[in-house]
Amino acid sequence: MNQRVIVLDFGGQYKELIARRVRECRVSSEILRGSTPVDELKRLAPIGIILTGGPDSVYRDGAPRCDRSLFELGIPVLGICYGMQLMAYTLGGEVSPCQTSEYGRKSVSADADAPLFAGLSTSQIGLMSHTDQVTRMPDGFRTIASTADCANAAMADVKRKLYATQFHPEVENTPNGTAMIRNFLYNVCGAVGDYDIAGYRARMVAEIREQVGDEHVLLGLSGGVDSSVCAALLAEAIPERVHCIFVDHGLMRLNEGDEVEAAFVNRVDFVRVNAEQRFLAKLKGVSDPERKRKIIGEEFVRVFEDEAKKLLAAHGNIRFLAQGTIYPDVVESGANESATIKSHHNVGGLPKDMMFTELVEPLRGLFKDEVRALGRELKLPRALTERQPFPGPGLAVRIIGNITKRKADILRLADAIFREEVGRLRVKPDQYFAVLTDTKSVGVMGDFRTHGYTIALRAVKTTDFMTCEYFPLKHDLLGRAASRIVDGVRGVSRVVYDVTGKPPATIEWE
Ligand code: XMP
Repeated sequence: MNQRVIVLDFGGQYKELIARRVRECRVSSEILRGSTPVDELKRLAPIGIILTGGPDSVYRDGAPRCDRSLFELGIPVLGICYGMQLMAYTLGGEVSPCQTSEYGRKSVSADADAPLFAGLSTSQIGLMSHTDQVTRMPDGFRTIASTADCANAAMADVKRKLYATQFHPEVENTPNGTAMIRNFLYNVCGAVGDYDIAGYRARMVAEIREQVGDEHVLLGLSGGVDSSVCAALLAEAIPERVHCIFVDHGLMRLNEGDEVEAAFVNRVDFVRVNAEQRFLAKLKGVSDPERKRKIIGEEFVRVFEDEAKKLLAAHGNIRFLAQGTIYPDVVESGANESATIKSHHNVGGLPKDMMFTELVEPLRGLFKDEVRALGRELKLPRALTERQPFPGPGLAVRIIGNITKRKADILRLADAIFREEVGRLRVKPDQYFAVLTDTKSVGVMGDFRTHGYTIALRAVKTTDFMTCEYFPLKHDLLGRAASRIVDGVRGVSRVVYDVTGKPPATIEWE
């Protein structure tokens, strides 16, 4: 059994990032609700507990609280932001509104002798985002960091192994944040670093088996990295009882349906459903991006239901739907407190009245690069694990405005040309594709005027797909791709390159 750290969630948007940083430090992590009883925590015997941030104020009635006994278990605790305030408040300190709220990267002056900052210099940068702060520390604590506006930017009771930071060590904007978390794990909690992706695989396999018992599972397989890794994990956990359904909605890239079929047909129980007409009929005349996503999300499930009914005679009712949902899908679909950026088809796009009553989503806590590492661990071919992501709704979110088969055919060809050109690069962008905009423009071919679509090319650099920078493709490549597209794809008269990052844009255009 691995050592583990429990992340107690008080509603902060960074809980998965905290859990991820712990995993990066080779310690297993698990997120539990802030209200988890202390007895339960004791039973789980973590080597450390981390309290997340959260939007509330500790002194407000009804704010999430924790029991004082949490701090008396002898288990080291690290409180972050709201977690720090909660620790102070619960142990008899005082938390008050800030004179000046602090947002953004701030200079932090840290006590390099404190175990949390071991090996780091006294001058640090920390991401601050708070309107309350600890104004009086509980007995036994001392200040171990401060900023210009926050006297107690971090505090510690070394004897009781209680630590807290007002800033967020889990985000990239705190450059030495991971080092601070590592210090907490190794210098305070006594971590030995026994976690790796192989351990995660074993844990996921055990959890899948426990969740589904001896029942059968239907898996929505798109051939993308996430669902492929999910399929491999399920195939290991319940080899005879996972049925993979690949829905070709007619909005796949050029030849992709056949490629996905070839990659999986002999590996897992695989059914391909050609549903182009069904999807295009539902999408006819729809141009609102969120509606498109919802329609596609629902139609996927309806096709899965039809397939599950076919399996009924052989395996009984299938209650479980497995999906390769990963963490960014969950956040951007507006789970918990976050705002809906776009309803990823497999989260916000699921219909309420589906026949599947339970979801199996083993990758829900992982980020893309971790999913790829798991795929490599599962010995999936590199062609699958290193694939660039392709969204479930496919070209539907890359055809701006209403969707027709003709538009999908135009985009497929333009996209294939662009991907072929970029595919020759030694260092490739993390995601690159073409978009069919709804802007037509005038061109000239031979002696004739044309009036065709504008294709936008997009290529981005990112690791987590939650933020990105545009990839600086060379002009000769762009020029070559543009002329091949305009010459070779009827209906296109212009090609442009998207040079926006995320934020403020998103990676997909819709
Ligand atoms: P955005 O456009 O939100 O994309 O910046 C972030 C990453 O997610 C992919 N994406 C999706 N994947 N279902 C998916 O499976 C979806 O509905 C969806 N929307 C966006 C996108 O391709 C990028 O990699």
